[in-house]
Amino acid sequence: MRVAVLASGRGSNFEAIARAILEGKINAEFALLIVNRRTAEAVQRAEKLGVNWIYVDPFSFPSREDYDRRLVEILKRVGADLICLAGYNLLVSGLFVDAFPDRVLNIHPSLLPSFPGLKPHWQAVTYGVKISGVTVHLVDKGVDTGPVVAQCAVPVSPEDTPESLADKVLPWEHRLYPQVVKWFADGRVKREGRKVVVEGADY
Ligand code: GRF
Repeated sequence: MRVAVLASGRGSNFEAIARAILEGKINAEFALLIVNRRTAEAVQRAEKLGVNWIYVDPFSFPSREDYDRRLVEILKRVGADLICLAGYNLLVSGLFVDAFPDRVLNIHPSLLPSFPGLKPHWQAVTYGVKISGVTVHLVDKGVDTGPVVAQCAVPVSPEDTPESLADKVLPWEHRLYPQVVKWFADGRVKREGRKVVVEGADY
């Protein structure tokens, strides 16, 4: 399996996935990092790790579909067959999702379906939930609506702010995302309608 990551900013989840692959913890190859912002810190991480990256400017395409068509072309060319969105700040279009059926993943720092979309930590703290967490899900044509592959829970304390909760959740993101990529690489993930089943998962 060849894994690609799409990122827009800091890139810590990209690094967690790429490192796990480079360290041989996942039976896969790292194909490519694509960033849609030239200044994304993810690029420095890719340089340090010595993995391929490319910046593709969304503003040089007439539409999102045209942009996504180009990304699909690039991803097919490098033989990517699992695409991980990781802090990618654009919604992918239907044509992108259809190009890689059940092989586009996203990570979202809440227990979906709670708190989809923007500012999930702010939403969780404002709502007053006692447990939040992380979700890795298949990407469909909605916003954070695709079938859940894996989740983990993180307690929220009364003192938490959106920032402190983000700090608590992030290390769990860095564990969960590579774990899920490994499940895919090992061929253990099956889709049964809305449900994703992982053979022998030790949830
Ligand atoms: C992570 O919290 C991720 O769950 C969310 O955006 C953040 C990206 O962080 N979608 P990073 O760029 O991976 O460091």
